[in-house]
Amino acid sequence: MPFVHATVLRDEVVQLLNPAPGKRLVDATLGGGGHAEALLAGGAEVIGVDRDPTAVAAARARLAGSERFQALEGRAGELESLLGPLGLLPVDGVLMDLGVSSPQLDTPERGFSFQTEGPLDMRMGRTGETAAELIARLSEPELAAVLRELGEEPFSRPIARALKQDLPSTTMGAVESVKRAVPRKAWPSRVHVATRTFQALRIAVNDEVGELDRVLSALPRLLHVGGRAAVIAFHSLEDRAVKQAFRALEGRCTCPPGLPICVCGAQGTFKVLTRRAVQASEAEVERNPRARSARLRAVERVA
Ligand SMILES: C[S@@+](CC[C@H](N)C(=O)[O-])C[C@H]1O[C@@H](n2cnc3c(N)ncnc32)[C@H](O)[C@@H]1O
Repeated sequence: MPFVHATVLRDEVVQLLNPAPGKRLVDATLGGGGHAEALLAGGAEVIGVDRDPTAVAAARARLAGSERFQALEGRAGELESLLGPLGLLPVDGVLMDLGVSSPQLDTPERGFSFQTEGPLDMRMGRTGETAAELIARLSEPELAAVLRELGEEPFSRPIARALKQDLPSTTMGAVESVKRAVPRKAWPSRVHVATRTFQALRIAVNDEVGELDRVLSALPRLLHVGGRAAVIAFHSLEDRAVKQAFRALEGRCTCPPGLPICVCGAQGTFKVLTRRAVQASEAEVERNPRARSARLRAVERVA
């Protein structure tokens, strides 16, 4: 099956990361290589990283013609240990386009979709626990907390109870548990009743919150002075984390008002480039509805 994923906010990413000959950029969520291709077109060297071997293979095939491109299988959260020993750090830019790719969602055997039957897997990479194993391992209250915190699911407790009773091994099995747990009249009208549960399980299985935290906290060691990082988030939980981490990197003075000099030690080694998150144009949303929820933020290392 060909790897087709509509790249979101492509021009906006290029504008913020400003690729040029002599610059080395890391696309830490390579996917189908759409952003990488646009960054290569600007003349930069691009290192693509993805935890999904099928994405790495597809991007290698797509970008094989460029000598300035290389792709590595690995996690964004381990960029330092992945790139450091290869002598590739620091770099001039890091990109994160979070979440899953269309081929991951659309391949039933990957188990991401509540629309098609498949094993309840949801792993982006080839290691770690599947969603079915996660459900079996967590206690009912732990599972409810995952659904509440990562899916903002209002029926987290009855759904956790049903999942623990059923221990589903397939996507449709999990959908049945959710349907049984949520009263029919409370099913959302605009999205599938299992949307939030599947989102929460996917984020937990892939430790997406931890991964994002690890990349953001490594930025001071990953980037040259003048280097930039750009992150595209697709839900409020991630966007909030990005916004807060960028503010913290900016090291804005947190002294109480009225002090004659700063005593809090704020350093100010980063500058936020996007006061408000950049969003997709109406034309892009029309072409690609997934772009509607995308929020792009960027920072530059200034000292
Ligand atoms: C939204 S897609 C990226 C699409 C890509 N920007 C393009 O234009 O084709 C996200 C990709 O990032 C990968 N991914 C997500 N989190 C990751 C992480 N922490 N480390 C490595 N890869 C990750 C997924 O496997 C998926 O292939």
